[in-house]
Amino acid sequence: MTDKTSILIFAGSTRQDALSGKLAHAVSLEVAGQGGVPKLISLKDFPAPIYNGDDEAENGVPQTIQDLTALIRGHDGVIIATPEYNGFFTPLIKNTLDWCSRPGASTQSPALPRGKPACVVASAPGAIGGIRAIPRLRDYLSELGFLVSPEVLSVSKAGDAFGDDGRLQVEAQADGLKRVVTKFLELSTRARTS
Ligand SMILES: Cc1cc2nc3c(=O)[nH]c(=O)nc-3n(C[C@H](O)[C@H](O)[C@H](O)COP(=O)(O)O)c2cc1C
Repeated sequence: MTDKTSILIFAGSTRQDALSGKLAHAVSLEVAGQGGVPKLISLKDFPAPIYNGDDEAENGVPQTIQDLTALIRGHDGVIIATPEYNGFFTPLIKNTLDWCSRPGASTQSPALPRGKPACVVASAPGAIGGIRAIPRLRDYLSELGFLVSPEVLSVSKAGDAFGDDGRLQVEAQADGLKRVVTKFLELSTRARTS
């Protein structure tokens, strides 16, 4: 058990060279650098079929989803790095968290904890950095009961944004990430200790 603030981090894409995966990695470096304890996961390791009520009735909530739900419960906060698909966050995020919201995903009810801090960052190869996906993911996370941080970051031109060390190399973006993580660690620490 640690008294440091633990942050679960994942990307909304499981593509091998996903820009959002690189952003999630940069987030984890920043969390560690600021004294938090990051746990970077890939949703590739938590696969689930497209949600279908008949499937749930027959087979229950997949073990992968139960494991992910336990990880969300077991961390002080969650940071999601999302790509933008037609202005929205990805169906992978929606499907995965819809499953996590089902009562069978946890022995506790509701399955996802109320008031767990969550933070959204986005990346895209274009000039607007996935900025339209951010409010939509923030809204969705609020619906699920997360306490959503007002601090966000969108990384534009993300194909050129990361250095060999995995960090954001444009100063304004690196400063933005630093600010987002600082505020989110404060929020998550407050939520854990209050
Ligand atoms: C179905 C689909 C829709 C997309 N829509 C957008 C979009 O609305 N805005 C945008 O900036 N990029 C859009 N893109 C391009 C993605 O930003 C780009 O493919 C990105 O690299 C995907 O994220 P990833 O690198 O994390 O896998 C779209 C890509 C796909 C496959």
